[in-house]
Amino acid sequence: MDANEVNKVAGAILGMLTLAMGIGFFSGALVSPKPLVKAGYELPDNTGAATATAAAPAAAAEPIAKRLASADVAKGEVAAKKCVSCHQFVKDGKNGTGPALYGIVNRAKGAAAGFKYSAGLPAKGGNWDYAALDEFIANPKAYIAGTTMGFAGVARPDERANIIGYLRSLADTPAPLPQ
Ligand code: HEC
Repeated sequence: MDANEVNKVAGAILGMLTLAMGIGFFSGALVSPKPLVKAGYELPDNTGAATATAAAPAAAAEPIAKRLASADVAKGEVAAKKCVSCHQFVKDGKNGTGPALYGIVNRAKGAAAGFKYSAGLPAKGGNWDYAALDEFIANPKAYIAGTTMGFAGVARPDERANIIGYLRSLADTPAPLPQ
């Protein structure tokens, strides 16, 4: 290869490089990538859908009076196993982490002798009627701010009705069912 040929080859390579750069430059001008305004990418926003599904069962929940009429006391007794780590259900039961619950339906709030309640519970006033029990068991902390009942609640309306039906049975004379 003489010097002339070397020059030709070098020239050809240089020409190709220049062409490649030129193509890159012009195509860059044609399809300029948009700079990212925000880092990362948008996650799908599910909050609307989630509230819709969460709200649906609540809206469908029938009043406790209606649910109690078809409550299953035996199932309620099984479901109430969630409570026994803290509550006794037997007659003359002792207070534990929570107050004894025999005869709780229509009992005054915060009335178990010798139990140290949170300030908020007796302050709520009135008796544990079916509606109050339903609301409390659904979400204790929402019903009584600062309650010491460390229990998340029973979300299912039919399960709450079963439990309340069982609580009602724990009395010498069970309270009348709501009309
Ligand atoms: C982790 C322990 C714990 C569990 C589990 C628990 N409770 Fe309680 N419960 C308490 C405590 C503590 C209190 C007293 C709350 C206060 O003073 O604010 C209480 C209070 C109550 C009261 C009010 C009693 C009164 O004398 O005014 C009712 C009714 C009740 N619980 C029902 C239930 C039911 C039904 C369940 C099960 C579905 C349950 N609890 C599960 C600890 C518990």
